[in-house]
Amino acid sequence: MTKLSKRLESLAKFVLKNDRVVDVGCDHGYLSIFLVENNLAKKVVASDINPNALNMAINNIKKRNLKIETVLSDGLNNIDMHDINTIIISGMGTATILHILANHEKMKNVNKLIIQSNNDHELLRKSISKMGYFLTDEKYIKDKDKWYITSLFIKSDKVNTKKELEWGLLNNVQYNKYLIDKEQNILKKIPLGHFKIKLSKYFKIRKLKKAISR
Ligand SMILES: C[S@@+](CC[C@H](N)C(=O)[O-])C[C@H]1O[C@@H](n2cnc3c(N)ncnc32)[C@H](O)[C@@H]1O
Repeated sequence: MTKLSKRLESLAKFVLKNDRVVDVGCDHGYLSIFLVENNLAKKVVASDINPNALNMAINNIKKRNLKIETVLSDGLNNIDMHDINTIIISGMGTATILHILANHEKMKNVNKLIIQSNNDHELLRKSISKMGYFLTDEKYIKDKDKWYITSLFIKSDKVNTKKELEWGLLNNVQYNKYLIDKEQNILKKIPLGHFKIKLSKYFKIRKLKKAISR
């Protein structure tokens, strides 16, 4: 069985049994393989723009004798999206991700986006919200000493608050602690009431904010 990094595992956790998934930028194909080996999705398509990356995925899939369609494609361009409801994109920057998602024709049946961007999370959340998706959940993962944010967006009429789009859901105590300890420049800008953590922690932050502003 394929063992995933904590970072990739956080993407898999948002996939449901009936989802029909495309893993855009699959690279070695590990996430797609994990989903199929563990029977976590109804269908998985693995795609990449880079022929070398896709060939690695194809070899890894063959070795395990799995049923995963592979497609060489820039974003969604060459992918048959008629029965795909879920797009996974991770390990790219927000500009590339938004460019891929701007393919409106291909996005018609997509009601779920699982995204892990390398940068510009505020722009990512705001832009995807404008496309009619609701930021439903976020996982904050520390993998090899680096923090990653995996976001789940669901097509919906519901709209996130401005603060949620600016700062994210901040629903992870460990990540909030990291902000307190290491990212005081970010921390000072976040409205205190936005932290969804225990009151004791809230007071700790307030004390810290006061200390910073002095
Ligand atoms: C850093 S790797 C991340 C791989 C994997 N998704 C992960 O999170 O570990 C980025 C992958 O995205 C692919 N990629 C970059 N731009 C792409 C695009 N426009 N369409 C499809 N794949 C793309 C690259 O070839 C590369 O394999």
